[in-house]
Amino acid sequence: MNSFGLTLTALCCVVVVLGGLPFSSDAQLDPSFYRDTCPKVHSIIREVIRNVSKTDPRMLASLVRLHFHDCFVLGCDASVLLNKTDTIVSEQEAFPNINSLRGLDVVNQIKTAVEKACPNTVSCADILALSAQISSILADGPNWKVPLGRRDGLTANQSLANQNLPAPFNSLDQLKSAFAAQGLSTTDLVALSGAHTFGRARCTFITDRLYNFSSTGKPDPTLNTTYLQELRKICPNGGPPNNLANFDPTTPDKFDKNYYSNLQGKKGLLQSDQELFSTSGADTISIVNKFSADKNAFFDSFEAAMIKMGNIGVLTGKKGEIRKHCNFVNSKSVELGLVNVASTDSSGMVSSI
Ligand code: HEM
Ligand SMILES: *[C@@H]1O[C@H](CO)[C@@H](O)[C@H](O)[C@H]1NC(C)=O
Ligand SMILES: *[C@@H]1O[C@H](CO)[C@@H](O)[C@H](O)[C@H]1NC(C)=O
Ligand SMILES: *[C@@H]1O[C@H](CO)[C@@H](O)[C@H](O)[C@H]1NC(C)=O
Ligand SMILES: *[C@@H]1O[C@H](CO)[C@@H](O)[C@H](O)[C@H]1NC(C)=O
Ligand SMILES: *[C@@H]1O[C@H](CO)[C@@H](O)[C@H](O)[C@H]1NC(C)=O
Repeated sequence: MNSFGLTLTALCCVVVVLGGLPFSSDAQLDPSFYRDTCPKVHSIIREVIRNVSKTDPRMLASLVRLHFHDCFVLGCDASVLLNKTDTIVSEQEAFPNINSLRGLDVVNQIKTAVEKACPNTVSCADILALSAQISSILADGPNWKVPLGRRDGLTANQSLANQNLPAPFNSLDQLKSAFAAQGLSTTDLVALSGAHTFGRARCTFITDRLYNFSSTGKPDPTLNTTYLQELRKICPNGGPPNNLANFDPTTPDKFDKNYYSNLQGKKGLLQSDQELFSTSGADTISIVNKFSADKNAFFDSFEAAMIKMGNIGVLTGKKGEIRKHCNFVNSKSVELGLVNVASTDSSGMVSSI
């Protein structure tokens, strides 16, 4: 090997070591990742969300859901935030997301505030993970230390979003498979479904349960008849598909364990919710009963499952980039004039243009 080759080899190894094993396939996230580079990131994000949630309490639920819809498609890489362009087929237009995702504007507001304090440092994927945890606490829900250091992906995949995200009419077996495909267990499924303790769903997802379940011409027999009458008022037959029903009729904006007692009372809003308790012989029934009786058991399992979900397919080290604008990859942001070349990430993705 000539000396040029030796120098290159040496340089390469120094970069690998200094970069904290950027090419390791098992790269680790770290809750203190921004301790030196953006120590205030948590409080900056919290202030924006706290402010927004004063006038829009539902936003806390919407932000938790956004992290889930990110992680199940190409991993937690902020692919869900990429807008439609000539090269991106946006996940925002996939069936589970279209007319349904909320909070994209809030994430942009957060990103602007974070960029002002620490330019080119905090990924959009980490903003989604932190926003989920902050939203949970602001709704009096579980708290966990969010592992950080995710980088933002360069692609999105709409058909993968259609394939990977579970549907409200899936059977329990299909729900288990969708979670298993992401490395999540049955306990994780039951715990994470507990996020349906707050937020809303559109009538379009429940009208068949209320009027014509599985083409029987009758309502879903597993639905509490008192609750059925309440839901029929909110969602009249043939009425507006976008009317909203609370997931939890008693504390609609609070993150508590009511989800599980609702299931025990046959008051799960979606078919996929009620199946966890009403599928005969299912191993999920005892987990529902445990979480319904023991708030700490639920919160502990939810925290562990959120950390597990937040680790799915993460990009670390030199992979991906730190997006300057969450809706576009950096090369596109430059092209659109949203940012200038000099101000973008040092990963080389943009400066090479
Ligand atoms: C188990 C499979 C799941 C299915 C089938 C499912 C399905 C749905 C559906 C259909 C909606 C209503 C959307 C709309 O009306 O536009 C919804 C809302 C919601 N989902 Fe799920 N979901 C699942 C799991 C999860 C998980 C794992 C989380 C988070 C950890 C989550 C968090 C939420 C939240 C917080 C809302 C309310 C959002 C808002 O009000 O803006 N869901 N889900
Ligand atoms: C809080 O919200 C108000 C309007 O709702 C806005 O004018 C103000 O700038 C926001 N403050 C922060 C810190 O986001
Ligand atoms: C990205 O798309 C969303 C709709 O999905 C839109 O509300 C938002 O304004 C777009 N962002 C930009 C920067 O154009
Ligand atoms: C998206 O994912 C599907 C698998 O559902 C795969 O067949 C397809 O090649 C992917 N498309 C892109 C553009 O990566
Ligand atoms: C229920 O749905 C089936 C199939 O969509 C339809 O044929 C039937 O007429 C419906 N029944 C009622 C009572 O609406
Ligand atoms: C239906 O709900 C009512 C009140 O919300 C409750 O008292 C009743 O026990 C529930 N029925 C069943 C079968 O769980």
